[in-house]
Amino acid sequence: MLARNILTSSVPYFFSKLANVPVPAISSQIIREIQMTSVAKHGGAFESKDPQSEAEVVNVKYIDKDGKETQVRGKIGDNVMYLAHRYGVEMEGACEASLACTTCHVYVQHEFLDTLQEPEEKEEDLLDMAPFLKENSRLGCQIILTKEMDGMELRLPKATRNFYVDGHKPKPH
Ligand code: FES
Repeated sequence: MLARNILTSSVPYFFSKLANVPVPAISSQIIREIQMTSVAKHGGAFESKDPQSEAEVVNVKYIDKDGKETQVRGKIGDNVMYLAHRYGVEMEGACEASLACTTCHVYVQHEFLDTLQEPEEKEEDLLDMAPFLKENSRLGCQIILTKEMDGMELRLPKATRNFYVDGHKPKPH
């Protein structure tokens, strides 16, 4: 989360210096794409590390399409999709968090919906193509854990459709 905030605040300044243009000329789309590239590149390395203190623990329960529950101790800043991979939860993630598929589709427990950041337009567009869409649908790779999400349940849909890379199923990192 901290890294994301730093990135968000420093990227416009960096590019404004580079291109000698005012900060407002940097579109939020560019910032978003840089953020997602960063998320995709880190590839779950952050999520493979345990919390360093109780203060940063965020407990999350995954419920797969067969009803199997997996309780995990995540931490602030973890990406929900990479965290799922670490614990063997079958959330795919065909595009590696680059916002180009819907295979990380999850249903967020209603009580926690307000703790999530508002979805980007691109996420909403992708979700519109997701099978079994519900009002609490989100893309798992776009959910970064905060302390407010402690105790959240994430349920996987009955099926996902991979229109990005047919047949490709990334292995947990
Ligand atoms: S992994 Fe493709 S959008 Fe989340």
